[in-house]
Amino acid sequence: MLIRYATFQTTTNIATVKCSQLQVELHPWLPRHDIVDWCTKRNVILEAYCPIVRGREFENPLLIAIAKKHSKTPAQVLIRWSLQKQFVPLPKSVTKSRIEENADVYDFELDADDMRKLDLDEYKPWYVAINHDNRDILICCSAWDPTKIGLED
Ligand SMILES: NC(=O)c1ccc[n+]([C@@H]2O[C@H](COP(=O)([O-])OP(=O)(O)OC[C@H]3O[C@@H](n4cnc5c(N)ncnc54)[C@H](OP(=O)(O)O)[C@@H]3O)[C@@H](O)[C@H]2O)c1
Repeated sequence: MLIRYATFQTTTNIATVKCSQLQVELHPWLPRHDIVDWCTKRNVILEAYCPIVRGREFENPLLIAIAKKHSKTPAQVLIRWSLQKQFVPLPKSVTKSRIEENADVYDFELDADDMRKLDLDEYKPWYVAINHDNRDILICCSAWDPTKIGLED
């Protein structure tokens, strides 16, 4: 069971105020249909963090093709995907031009074909590799999922 999910369920059971939103890593390479379905059924708003995958997929040919088709950038396509999924995307940037770019997503729409192509059956949460005590350790810094990576890994 995903720990965020489990924590969230526990919270909804004991809280006096119902949870109305959940922030979780969400993008085409981590669509988390299980969490999205669970929240959608309960009218829980999904805040998508890491929505532009920190640029990791900007060279992806599929993403580039869709961006070219709409004369937009890969970041804008990913933010648009998130909005059209009814998520609240939280792109982060400290760069003025990028902040403006990321906000300029209301003059185009991904069509059904774009959305279908971006409906990837992927599980690629954000990982970083660190070296600790001369050992390389992979840390999933944005969406640890103990169903995939246990404490021992
Ligand atoms: N990741 C987590 O663990 C986590 C957890 C909870 C909440 N959040 C929140 O979720 C938000 C998302 O942040 P994130 O860092 O996880 O992922 P992200 O928004 O997917 O990626 C942010 C990175 O992409 C760069 N970037 C932003 N817009 C760009 C653009 N248009 N073109 C090219 N590069 C662009 C930023 O660089 P510059 O800043 O240098 O421009 C930054 O390095 C943040 O507000 C964060 O506080 C994150």
